[in-house]
Amino acid sequence: MKICMIGAGYVGLVGGACFADLGNTVYCVDKNKNKISMLNNGEIPIYEPGLNEVVKKNYLSKRLKFTTDLSLAVSSSDIIFICVGTPTSKKNRSADLHFVFKVAAEIAKSIKKFKIIICKSTVPVTTGDKIEKIISKRVNKKLFEVISNPEFLREGEAIRDFRFPDRIVVGSNNKKAINKLKSLYEPLIKKGAKFFSTSRRGAEMIKYASNAFLATKISYINEIANLCEKINVNVEEVSIGIGLDQRIGGRFLRVGPAYGGSCFPKDTKALTVTGEMYNTDLSIIKSVIKSNEKRKILLTTRVKRILSNKIKNKKISFLGVTFKPNTDDMRQSTSLTMIPFLSKNGAKITYYDPTGKKNEFSSLKNVSFCNTIDNACNNADLVIIHTEWEEFKALDFKKLSKKKKFKIFDIRNLYSVKDMKKKGFNYYSIGR
Ligand SMILES: NC(=O)c1ccc[n+]([C@@H]2O[C@H](COP(=O)([O-])OP(=O)(O)OC[C@H]3O[C@@H](n4cnc5c(N)ncnc54)[C@H](O)[C@@H]3O)[C@@H](O)[C@H]2O)c1
Repeated sequence: MKICMIGAGYVGLVGGACFADLGNTVYCVDKNKNKISMLNNGEIPIYEPGLNEVVKKNYLSKRLKFTTDLSLAVSSSDIIFICVGTPTSKKNRSADLHFVFKVAAEIAKSIKKFKIIICKSTVPVTTGDKIEKIISKRVNKKLFEVISNPEFLREGEAIRDFRFPDRIVVGSNNKKAINKLKSLYEPLIKKGAKFFSTSRRGAEMIKYASNAFLATKISYINEIANLCEKINVNVEEVSIGIGLDQRIGGRFLRVGPAYGGSCFPKDTKALTVTGEMYNTDLSIIKSVIKSNEKRKILLTTRVKRILSNKIKNKKISFLGVTFKPNTDDMRQSTSLTMIPFLSKNGAKITYYDPTGKKNEFSSLKNVSFCNTIDNACNNADLVIIHTEWEEFKALDFKKLSKKKKFKIFDIRNLYSVKDMKKKGFNYYSIGR
C-alpha cells in the first residue's frame, strides 16, 4: 500500500520504517527540515534501539522516503497517518491540538481522490469529528474517511511493540475503511496481534483510558512503597505478591520515580480536562496526577535527608537522566525537577547518560555532563541511579568510590539491599 506518515517523530518514524519493512511504500513527512535532511543523509534524529537498521534497509530499497513536501506525500498515498505531537497546552492542562488541526487543513488541500486519514496522535475524544469538519470545508465527504488508530508503542521498545502489538485498535463506522486497515495490519494480525474495531470516539477513549490506567498502577505502587519504607516491608515482595493475582498482573508495578515521558503526564491531564468538559469528575485520575507531582518533591526531600540536609557544595552524580532507559527522551523526566532544585541549592551536579549531553541542563549553574560513569562518580558525595540503563546494573562501586566513599541512592532498586550492606556501602533505595 502507499502510505504517508505526517510527523517523523518517535511514532511516525518508527511506524513509517516498520510499515515499509512490511512491503509498503511509505513517505515520512516532517516540517522540520533539519530532521528530514538528517534522515536523507542516513542519520537517525532520535535514539531508539534497532531503528537505524530498519530505516537504512528500507531507505535503500526505496520503500521509505523522507520529505518536507506534505502535498506530494499526500497525493502519492492512499492512507495518511497523522503522527504529530499533542503536548500539554501552555495555557491549561488540555492537549494542544494545533499541530493536528494544521496538518488536517494542509491534507485537505491535496485531496483529489479517495484517502483514508488516520489519526495516530493521541487526541481527546471528538477530535476525529473536528478533523473531519476541517477537511470537509474543502473536500467532498465522499473523498475521505477519518479514522482513529491510536498508537500503543513504548519508547525504547518501539520496534518490537510495532511488530508484536498486544492489540490494534481501529475506530470507525466505515466497514470498507476498517477492512483496508485490517489488510494493512494483516502481517501483524497473523503473528497474533488482536484487531479490535470500535467507534471513532471509542478508539480515542481507549487510548486515554489505557494510559491513565497504567499511570495509576505506577502511582499506586509508589505510594505503597512510601508506606513499606515506614513499616520495614520490602515493596518488591509486595509487588510480586500482588502481581501474581491474574486479575491484577505484575507489569507496571515496579517502584521508582514519578512517571514521566511524553505520554502519561500529558494524557492524564488532558483526560481530566475532557472529564470537566462533560461534567464528569475523574477523581481517581486527578489524585494520580497529584500523587505523581508529589513524588518528584518526595524524592528530592529524600536526597536532602540522605545528605543530612546539607546540599550546599555537595557533589551529586546522576547516572542516567532520561525518563526511562533505551531512549533519549527527556520529556517530564524526574531529573528535570531534581537537578534544577539541587543546583539551585548549591549542589555541584555531574551526570552521565548513554544518550549524551542534554540541552535541558545547559543553562544551569554547576551542572556538567561527563562522558563516562567513572568521571561522573569521581569525588562524589552521593551517586543517584536515576535511570535503569543496562550499563548501571553491575557497577563496581568499590572501584568507583576508591578516591572518596560516596553514598548511593538507587531510585530504580537495581541492587540488593543485603549485598550492598554486606559490601559496606551506604546504600538507599525505594520501599525497602
Ligand atoms: N512517543 C511515544 O512513545 C508515543 C506513544 C504512543 C502515542 N504517542 C502519541 O503520538 C503523537 C506523536 O508523538 P511523538 O512522540 O512521535 O512526537 P514527536 O514530537 O517525537 O514528533 C512529532 C513530529 O511532528 C512534526 N510536525 C509537527 N507539525 C507538523 C506539520 N505541520 N507537518 C509535518 N510535521 C509536523 C514535528 O516536527 C515532530 O518531528 C503524540 O500525540 C503522542 O502522544 C506517542
